[in-house]
Amino acid sequence: MKAEEIQEILDTAQLMRPIMNSRNKKITYLQGKNVVTLFYESSTRTRVSFELAAKYLGATTTNISVATSSVSKGETLIDTVRTIQAMGVDIVIMRHPMTGAAKLLSENIEAKVINAGDGINEHPTQALLDLYTIKKHKGKIKDLNIVIAGDILHSRVARSNIWGMTKLGARVVVVGPTTIIPKEIKKMGVEVSSNMKQVIKNADVIMALRIQKERQKSPLFPSLREYQHYFGIDEEKLAMAKPDVLLMHPGPVNRGVELTSDIMEGENSVIEEQVTNGVAVRMALLYLMTREGILSE
Ligand code: CP
Repeated sequence: MKAEEIQEILDTAQLMRPIMNSRNKKITYLQGKNVVTLFYESSTRTRVSFELAAKYLGATTTNISVATSSVSKGETLIDTVRTIQAMGVDIVIMRHPMTGAAKLLSENIEAKVINAGDGINEHPTQALLDLYTIKKHKGKIKDLNIVIAGDILHSRVARSNIWGMTKLGARVVVVGPTTIIPKEIKKMGVEVSSNMKQVIKNADVIMALRIQKERQKSPLFPSLREYQHYFGIDEEKLAMAKPDVLLMHPGPVNRGVELTSDIMEGENSVIEEQVTNGVAVRMALLYLMTREGILSE
């Protein structure tokens, strides 16, 4: 995807915001289209916001619960989606624990596929909503200093955001315990640090990431308490940052680990706004995707 295409999605999301705030949230852009959400991993924000986005645009939506579908009888991913496609589905929105699952699917079915997170690889729509939120507050992405803090190793949000932020000209620093920062991340054009107090001073945006305990086979740092001490953001660390620093987190948050509750709900935080913007960005994406030739891969 080109920088101009990212910009087009962000601009279209801005046009979608009034629809979200209107009394009649239903319009007809996607009338006659069927959208299926297929999530092999848990989700609150992504699944619900895609479902709302599709409904606001007039599509018919169906949610497939992996636990109660024939996946639990051993049906493969491709057979599952071919079965869904046989019922006339236009767009499949999928989250899957395997890297590359959405790409594999898109190569094997006719319906359009949106990646709602594939393992630790990518979470493109989260990055788009984060870029939209940053641009809304800062007026630009280019030349901003953005700090991404925490579990970079397991974070598809980090990888997609780094890709998008650097593409749009931001400077990105990743910070955290060295055991959860993969060495190859430097190849994505970021700086690496293990000193939160140092990098926070220059930040325009701080994005804290969830410590993904469910993906750590064995502990990668001594304790959550120690993590909180060095890398968690509290009043003391936030006081070292610029007064207008934007504080973000993709959610869900481990309260008291990545962020204290006070900070989460403080005036620098845009965490709830990220969720709201997610609906507008996903509406924009669904709208643009269904118009042939508007977006490349
Ligand atoms: N940020 C995010 O992907 O949240 P969910 O897991 O709740 O969808």
